[in-house]
Amino acid sequence: MKKRKLRNLEVSAIGMGCMGFSTGYGEIPTENESIRLIRLSHELGCTLYDTAEVYAVFRNENLVGKALEPIRNEIILSSKFSPTPLPGQNLSEGKLTKSGLHKTLEDSLKRLRTDHLDIYFVHRMTDEIEIEELAEWFGELIKEGKILGWGLSEVDEKIIRRANSVTPLTAIESEYSMMARQWEQNEISTCEELGIGFMAYSPMAGGLLSGKIQSNTEFKGDDIRRTITRYSKENLDKNQPVIDLVKKFAAEKNATPAQISLAWVMHKPFIVPIPGMRKDERIRENLGAAEVILTDAEYKQLTDELNKLKIYGDRKDEDIAKLGDLVRNKLFGSSGVPIKGLDGRVGKLQK
Ligand SMILES: NC(=O)c1ccc[n+]([C@@H]2O[C@H](COP(=O)([O-])OP(=O)(O)OC[C@H]3O[C@@H](n4cnc5c(N)ncnc54)[C@H](OP(=O)(O)O)[C@@H]3O)[C@@H](O)[C@H]2O)c1
Repeated sequence: MKKRKLRNLEVSAIGMGCMGFSTGYGEIPTENESIRLIRLSHELGCTLYDTAEVYAVFRNENLVGKALEPIRNEIILSSKFSPTPLPGQNLSEGKLTKSGLHKTLEDSLKRLRTDHLDIYFVHRMTDEIEIEELAEWFGELIKEGKILGWGLSEVDEKIIRRANSVTPLTAIESEYSMMARQWEQNEISTCEELGIGFMAYSPMAGGLLSGKIQSNTEFKGDDIRRTITRYSKENLDKNQPVIDLVKKFAAEKNATPAQISLAWVMHKPFIVPIPGMRKDERIRENLGAAEVILTDAEYKQLTDELNKLKIYGDRKDEDIAKLGDLVRNKLFGSSGVPIKGLDGRVGKLQK
């Protein structure tokens, strides 16, 4: 597997997003099957794994910790700090304090069966604290050896610059795909300028760019595609020209649409996509995308054609939160503890 650098950390050119093993995409595999799939990806060369305390509230970290324990020293592991307290997290000092951050990290480390994280992200920035203060606290965690580096998710250029000037950022983790280019102009170019890595989440637009989702595909359970506008039947139909474009390029390059969509994201060498994948053949297909290289001319041609197409719908935290009771019941039974959307983000629970 080819390697890339997220600032100073060497990782496989494609990583694995582990959220879907516990939540977010409907029915989940059994624990044994998830562990087998995660380890299979490593056998195939993957060395970057992403999780978060909020994914199925701690359960994903527990699973990922168990799966990676025997290979912990061979991989790069990232997890995320949610500024909002999660159910059962009774931090007397509050979560958005230096000691709250330390305690939260210690708990993640226990679940992940490790003594350090390679990258510790702030899952969502909040206006309850200045970014400089958070940057200082994360810098202290680096000095203590509890984390090797840190990052932010879904933040704008100003926040990136302010944070990086206090404690150099290892990576930004934000949505990026042929259907989600909102960070391309300013934030991705800022990462390039400042030597910050970029981990592209939902690089396949939740599977859409694989060309395998039909407009009559039914999303079930806690599948976030039930409420994200990009996947409404109407928008699936309207976005078909994008899928057709990817399919056309795939045929020309003797690759699959999934691989072309990842190769497009990876055209810049500091970008590492972290697709979610829960089947043997998808893991092989997606990791195989590291061998699919778009020349500058091919990338330009594909991007020029993409630029002519309008993208319908998007992936908003508020829409994910509309899963409301469904997600809450799956995660907490009838405990009724309120959450801020599946990713611990903004939005209101539906009653
Ligand atoms: N920082 C943040 O706020 C944030 C937010 C969201 C996600 N993330 C991270 O990013 C990771 C990836 O995000 P994502 O899961 O939305 O990414 P994604 O790869 O764009 O979408 C995952 C979906 O695509 C399907 N898929 C993947 N490869 C496929 C292929 N070759 N053919 C057909 N379908 C394919 C998966 O199916 P199966 O799973 O059924 O195989 C799954 O339904 C997450 O696991 C998480 O670690 C971070």
